[in-house]
Amino acid sequence: MCGIIGYIGTKQASNILVKGLKKLEYRGYDSAGIAILDKDILIYKQPGKVINLEESIDHQVENVTMGIAHTRWATHGEPTVDNAHPHTSNNGDIVLVHNGIIENYKFLKDELIEKGFSFEGQTDTEVLVNYIQLIQDEQGLSIEDAVKKALQNANGAYALAIIDKKEPNKMIVTRKGSPLAIGLTDSNDEFYVASDAIPIIEYTQSLVYLNDNEVVVLERGQKMKVTDIYGVEKSYKVKKIDLNLDKVSKGDYEHYMLKEIFEQPATIKNTLYSHLNHENSDIHFENLDELKEKLVNASRIIIVSCGTSWHAGIVGEYLIEELARIPVEVEYASEFRYRNPIITKDDIVMAISQSGETADTLAALRYSKAQGATTFSICNVFGSSMARECDFTAYTYAGAEIGVASTKAFTAQVAVVSLLAIQLGLERNQITQEKANSLVEELKTIPSVVNQIFATDDHIKKVAKNYTETTSFLFLGRGINFPIALEGALKLKEISYIHAEGYPAAEMKHGPIAMIEESLPTVIVATNNEYYDKLVSNAQEVKARKGPIVAVVNDDDTEMIQIADHVFKVPRVSDLLQPIVSVVPLQLFSYHVAVFKGCNVDQPRNLAKSVTVE
Ligand code: AGP
Repeated sequence: MCGIIGYIGTKQASNILVKGLKKLEYRGYDSAGIAILDKDILIYKQPGKVINLEESIDHQVENVTMGIAHTRWATHGEPTVDNAHPHTSNNGDIVLVHNGIIENYKFLKDELIEKGFSFEGQTDTEVLVNYIQLIQDEQGLSIEDAVKKALQNANGAYALAIIDKKEPNKMIVTRKGSPLAIGLTDSNDEFYVASDAIPIIEYTQSLVYLNDNEVVVLERGQKMKVTDIYGVEKSYKVKKIDLNLDKVSKGDYEHYMLKEIFEQPATIKNTLYSHLNHENSDIHFENLDELKEKLVNASRIIIVSCGTSWHAGIVGEYLIEELARIPVEVEYASEFRYRNPIITKDDIVMAISQSGETADTLAALRYSKAQGATTFSICNVFGSSMARECDFTAYTYAGAEIGVASTKAFTAQVAVVSLLAIQLGLERNQITQEKANSLVEELKTIPSVVNQIFATDDHIKKVAKNYTETTSFLFLGRGINFPIALEGALKLKEISYIHAEGYPAAEMKHGPIAMIEESLPTVIVATNNEYYDKLVSNAQEVKARKGPIVAVVNDDDTEMIQIADHVFKVPRVSDLLQPIVSVVPLQLFSYHVAVFKGCNVDQPRNLAKSVTVE
């Protein structure tokens, strides 16, 4: 996912912009660039890391107090200097940075070429900046009016920051489908712009999250002006964001991912207690009351999400159906939005998303809302698009998750769906208050249970060392641990690039067992009490074919430890609460394998932290 930074004010812009780009590195990128407005527009662009860009900037250029910057995750065109942002119009007056995709860029490019425009790169962004120039030239408009006109004909998703050297005291910012936040100061002499709060928060906690189709003019000494793309004035809300920056650093850990794995006792506790009454442990979700009627009487809950969040959705399906007896369907958002699904006004469509910005999940939500469903989101980012567009949001309180591989956000998502399932079960008289209380009390022990697992990290690391040359893994689980097998497989493949496949253990005999041999290790999540004997049988089937086995077992296990080559022990908890516990050794295992392989654990190749494009 690309990252945008902008600054207009009184300080040296280049320092603020580069520092901001570094804070956005976690989003994943392959080139970076900066444009500052001195007497002319000065542009610096480099493929690779921000440090390459920083070294290329002429820091002798003094007293330049406005600029825009960008980290690019290549969609159209290779990660080269020509394709890196910022992009400049043919006349050299307009420069912009873009996060998103202009879907009709080929059509616009043909028109521009006919009218004599030329292009250095292959990006849709370079087309957009020249399309703005074309409109400005033909209609003699101000930069903000030319931008509005251009966007009326540009289809797709964008977050944009734009400078026109003919109007050197202005920056134009706008968004549609890609997030953009503006940081305000009391004096209106400075404005900060970024794709999310993290690069802004050290300067100001007063943020405005733009809505789709809003165009903002930032001018030193003026209150910011917000209109839609047709010029209709819009109001805006300033949010005070309390984001503790020193938590957004690696601390003593080698990688953000490792830090975030070890933060889980605290983040699970934060998330649980944010939805529990501290006196009597009653579950409460802010403004759920308005929706309670609909949730309790829902004919169906459809969960839409992607990747790791989709795995949290499957855990949610087992919990909600078991405790609340509401039919649940879990859908890949990318499939759901295009298969013409049947949605009624009695449906609850729930999006689970760490970023709250994933394009496919957001589109599935919008489609469902348009069909009359009640929409609900579980998000980790305040002010994210999903949180602002849903009828109801239950936040996870995992704090900023920087590692591309999601860990603490996943366990926080599972904590929220656990509480939700219990609350719905109570409201629908499917479980007694006593059952609910015992589940809540056990949930409150999970942070310390997870903490106990960290004592086995050295052992997990030793086991991981045996598998750095392995080329493929099978992950098996049953029942509520089946999604944990899927999650363990995803963690391994996305950071170590080793092929791994999660499967329901009982499905082995319907195909995968044909693959079993010495070179194909099988990871078996064997902590369920209910299916334990069947899982032992699955392990014996694998062992009979010389397949190596790594098993996640309860610390009092007696049988699986006789069969498996390596075991990861976790404290025993009720089956329904096993997922949060069973996933932790698999997070650590994938982390150590990836580190031994020398992979970029926090920014795995080709991946972005939040996929805000299709
Ligand atoms: C998980 O480790 C991956 N980073 C990815 O699958 C992620 O879960 C997916 O892109 C969904 O992101 P979201 O939770 O922000 O919507």
